[in-house]
Amino acid sequence: MVRVTASTYDIEKAAGVLRSGGLVALPTETVYGLGANAEDPAAVSRIFQVKGRPPTHPLIVHIGRAEELDDWVADVPQAARLLAEHFWPGPLTLVLRRGPRVPLEATGGLETVAVRVPDHPVALSLLAAFGGGITAPSANRFGSVSPTTAHDVLAELGDAVDFVLDGGPCEVGVESTIVDTTGDVPTILRPGGVTSEDLEAVLGYPPAVPSSSPVRVPGQHPSHYAPRARVVLVEPEQVVAEAELAQELGHRVGVFLPAPFADTPVKAHAVVAVPTAMSAYARGLYGFLRAFDRQGCDLIVASLPGEEGLGLAIANRLRRAAGPRHTV
Ligand code: TXA
Ligand code: MG
Repeated sequence: MVRVTASTYDIEKAAGVLRSGGLVALPTETVYGLGANAEDPAAVSRIFQVKGRPPTHPLIVHIGRAEELDDWVADVPQAARLLAEHFWPGPLTLVLRRGPRVPLEATGGLETVAVRVPDHPVALSLLAAFGGGITAPSANRFGSVSPTTAHDVLAELGDAVDFVLDGGPCEVGVESTIVDTTGDVPTILRPGGVTSEDLEAVLGYPPAVPSSSPVRVPGQHPSHYAPRARVVLVEPEQVVAEAELAQELGHRVGVFLPAPFADTPVKAHAVVAVPTAMSAYARGLYGFLRAFDRQGCDLIVASLPGEEGLGLAIANRLRRAAGPRHTV
């Protein structure tokens, strides 16, 4: 059954679905997740089937309170404790050594586990009602754009989900920042809602950024976060000319018009003026990409924002949307 709602009654109902091994789509502050009881290997395996995701790609375990972290992991280094205290609930995922409660199905066979406390009242109510951990990847098919509304989830997964909780549009709009705290220095595996500058302010030193992409992080696949339309990245001052040329050549072009050119007229199929505030851009990004697809665009022309603050996560997602497609 698919219900799009989030009353107290439905939170209880959703918790019951999790207890009986079902899948619940839930809102978080970043994107919607496709949740299962983290301690139910069969339910966790169903997530991979529904998403079409390779079973070796690990999931995030969502917990209700930072105090519960020790129940799920083998060891909490000091830096991880500090980051959890400062940023949870919030868009930060910590990678730690796996505790015995976490089945290997959830970690893709790894001895580490990714954990976060989401900052959304519906997600937190569900976690409290359910009482356990919820493994949840973004509620989209493998490789496509993450959903930021309950409607996106239904459009993409439909009846494959047992229950959908609607918590409104996601506030942050891009996924959580993933920080590996199992090594000497906390290392950003995926930029996201908590910025590198925020992390540095709390740690007192900059987090490391790996130079080569770890194979185990599917979010690091070039093909990830991709709309159907092909995405082309150019310099900001070339966006209008590139879009008009492609449109003249017969493409249906969607354009991300960079802020300095917001008032420039452009002949294209669909135009989005990029919000000047990076938080607004991040919040809207996946919705804009989905809208271009819905409007039948076959080509999207965009430029990268400055890679400070949230701009780093936005640039990361745009690059991956523009990267080579994989058929995994
Ligand atoms: O904001 C988010 O993080 C959203 C919401 C629903 O919480 N979730 C999300 O999940 O983006 P997913 O599955 O789409 O991305 C999780 C990322 C993957 O890139 C995965 O490889 C990485 O977390 N990950 C999970 N466990 C890991 C581990 N043990 N070591 C390294 N990376 C891990
Ligand atoms: Mg995802």
